[in-house]
Formats: sequence, structure tokens, C-alpha cells
Amino acid sequence: MSQVVFGTRTLTNSANTKPASADSNFLPGPVLLLGAPGVGKGTQAKLLMAAHGIPQISTGDILRANIASGTPLGKTAKSLMEQGQLVSDDLVNQMVADRLAQPDTHRGYILDGFPRTLNQAEWLDQHLAATPQTLPVVAISIVVSYDHLLHRITGRRISPAGRIYNIYSNPPATSGLCDVDGSVLVQRPDDSEAVFTERMKTFDTQTAPVVEHYRKLGRFQEVNGDQPVDQVTAAINAALLHLRQA
Ligand code: AP5
Repeated sequence: MSQVVFGTRTLTNSANTKPASADSNFLPGPVLLLGAPGVGKGTQAKLLMAAHGIPQISTGDILRANIASGTPLGKTAKSLMEQGQLVSDDLVNQMVADRLAQPDTHRGYILDGFPRTLNQAEWLDQHLAATPQTLPVVAISIVVSYDHLLHRITGRRISPAGRIYNIYSNPPATSGLCDVDGSVLVQRPDDSEAVFTERMKTFDTQTAPVVEHYRKLGRFQEVNGDQPVDQVTAAINAALLHLRQA
């Protein structure tokens, strides 16, 4: 898929994929972060990326980078995303295959927002089974009560570099501006209450069965996302260590 852009945020280089964790011998392997819109997948994936020196692969971020660049994929994805619907499995699977082939994935990676349908999950299982010397995938599902999700979605603001804020739970020091580089924060077009309702319906019908798929396969843990960010991070790290030692 030559015309797909991955975006500067989703590609890393060797200089910034060095593990920051105390135990640099720990091999994370492929990690799936599952959960409904707004549970904190992106927030936690960025922290895991920094701690373990592996890339975050967010299918939502890649699609948004393609919309911003006006690629054919972006043109196809734009209206679907604005309506809270999924982009087709074939397009997304190919996009993920291309991204997993990048050299920064050799120690592992965090898949954030993929797989989202049973078809994508089955494709991924087969793709990984055909990839030599890959650790088995581990899946961590973040769970947050429905009532909190709407606040998280409508309160979210993001910087052009992908830093995530929330006007209720994690506001910037100066309203509307990124703490790190002073850039103007924006709201995602799909973060309205109306589109959130559609995204939740899509999650319940198409993605909830994916969570059950990995629960049944094993190497799966659920984490309570209804707690402060650092406590969610600690729970995910504990789950990851446990699943890799199992
Ligand atoms: P995508 O970008 O993946 O969106 P999503 O899955 O709906 O998830 P979000 O990004 O909304 O939330 P998040 O869980 O990352 O939460 P965050 O950390 O930002 O997908 C968008 C669209 O792209 C889809 O609808 C679809 O159209 C398309 N798409 C993507 N992948 C696809 C695929 N595989 N197949 C087909 N189509 C696909 O946190 C949310 C807010 O909460 C933030 O403001 C944050 O600061 C705050 N927060 C986080 N943690 C906490 C906490 N512990 N306490 C309080 N606040 C918190």
C-alpha cells in the first residue's frame, strides 16, 4: 500500500525506542490494548511506549494522518470516522501489515485500536502465526463505566504532536494550549456526544466480540480504567509482566 502515510507520531527510530524501564531485558512482544472509545488506550499506550521502548501503533492515528495528507485511504476513511463507523477490514488489515513490517517492531509493539472486528482478530492471529520468532500476543482490556466515557470523550483535547489532555481530568496549564510546545489544542471531529453514541454502538456490536475472542484464547487480562492514570499504568504493567511469565 504505497500511498499510505503512517505519520511522524507512529514511526519511531532507534534513538527513541530504547527501553526506559529499569529492566531493559524485558521483552514485551506484541501487546493488544482493547477497550471502548475513551477508556484510555492512547494515554496508556504512550506511557508503555516510553517505559518499554516499543512503538504505539494506533490505527486511529494512522487513519487521521492519512486524512490530513489527503491520501486515497484518508478520503475513504474520513466520512466513516465522522459517523462513528469502522473502516473496512481489508484496508485496515493491509495498513497494519505494512506498519508491522517496519524495523522498529522487532522487540514488540502496542496495537491500540486494532483488532476491532472478529475478522481483523482472525487476520491478526494468522498473520502472527506466519511470522517467525514472534512471541505470542497478549491482550489487555481496559474497562471504564459508560457514564465516565462521555466526559472523557467530550473533554478530550489533543495537540498536533498527539499529546492528550482533558479539560476535566487533565487540563493544560494555559487553557487551549499544549504545556510542552504551546501549540493550539484541538477537539477531534468524532468527539461530539452524537458521534460518541454511534461509536459505542459500533463497539458493542463489532468490537466487544473481539474482547471475548482474546479472553477465550487466554493470555488476556482485564484492567480497571476507572482510576487515576498512574494507577491504570501500574495495573497494565503488572498484567503485562504476569502474562509474559505465564
Ligand atoms: P480511535 O482513534 O482508535 O478511537 P477509539 O478507539 O474510539 O479510542 P479513543 O482514541 O477515542 O480513546 P482512547 O481509549 O485512546 O482514550 P484516550 O487515551 O485518548 O478510532 C477512531 C476511528 O477510526 C474509529 O471510530 C473508526 O472509524 C476508525 N478506526 C480506528 N481503528 C480502526 C480499525 N481497527 N478498524 C476500522 N476502523 C478503525 O483518553 C480519552 C480521554 O480520557 C482523554 O482526554 C484522556 O486525557 C482522558 N483519560 C485517559 N485516562 C484517564 C484516566 N485514567 N482518568 C481520567 N481521564 C483519563
